[in-house]
Amino acid sequence: MAKNKKPHRGKGVTRREFMTNVSAGAVAVAAAGTLGAKDAEATAVIKPEDMVTIDLQINQRRHRLLVEPRWSLLFVIREKLGLTATKFGCERGECGSCTVLVNDVPLYACMMLAMEAQDLKITTLEGLMQGEALGPVQKAFLEQDAYQCGYCTSGQIMAAEGLLRKQPHPSIEEIQTGVSGNLCRCGAYPHIFKAIAQAAKAR
Ligand code: FES
Ligand code: FES
Repeated sequence: MAKNKKPHRGKGVTRREFMTNVSAGAVAVAAAGTLGAKDAEATAVIKPEDMVTIDLQINQRRHRLLVEPRWSLLFVIREKLGLTATKFGCERGECGSCTVLVNDVPLYACMMLAMEAQDLKITTLEGLMQGEALGPVQKAFLEQDAYQCGYCTSGQIMAAEGLLRKQPHPSIEEIQTGVSGNLCRCGAYPHIFKAIAQAAKAR
């Protein structure tokens, strides 16, 4: 699962590897005053001239936005674009509730600056919908009862979707590894694994 020096170029890189490699950079950013996404707007001190215009491609739509350089992709997705399926959790690359696909690879949106995501293909849970109908992975989670409180579910589904795009017929071990960067406090893992296996068959 998702973490390398250049997370947006993450093909073939696991998120665990990504986390290891970006940790030094993340610490440096934190030391420079990066704020948690939830607080970023409220404590904005940046001068207007230091805002940056970026283009994001999310769920096959292009968005032009004015952002602070320190804003995370998670903050922008939720608070600026209103795509609230992607969840705030730990905001430090531990829980996986913020997982999105970046060029089809599951990554933690809390660990990527919005600026870094420019011109990359971002997919959120909303992007898995097929019109008004659920996509195959979403449907399998529903049918297998693969959640309790549901807070981790968006991230689990995005991790599963990324796994199935890379490996359409995963073994149970590959399924377990594929969502190993996504914590479920409710312990719904057996159902989550079954749902992913069902989605793989359906695809
Ligand atoms: S909110 Fe991103 S990993 Fe927990
Ligand atoms: S369903 Fe509650 S945290 Fe996973």
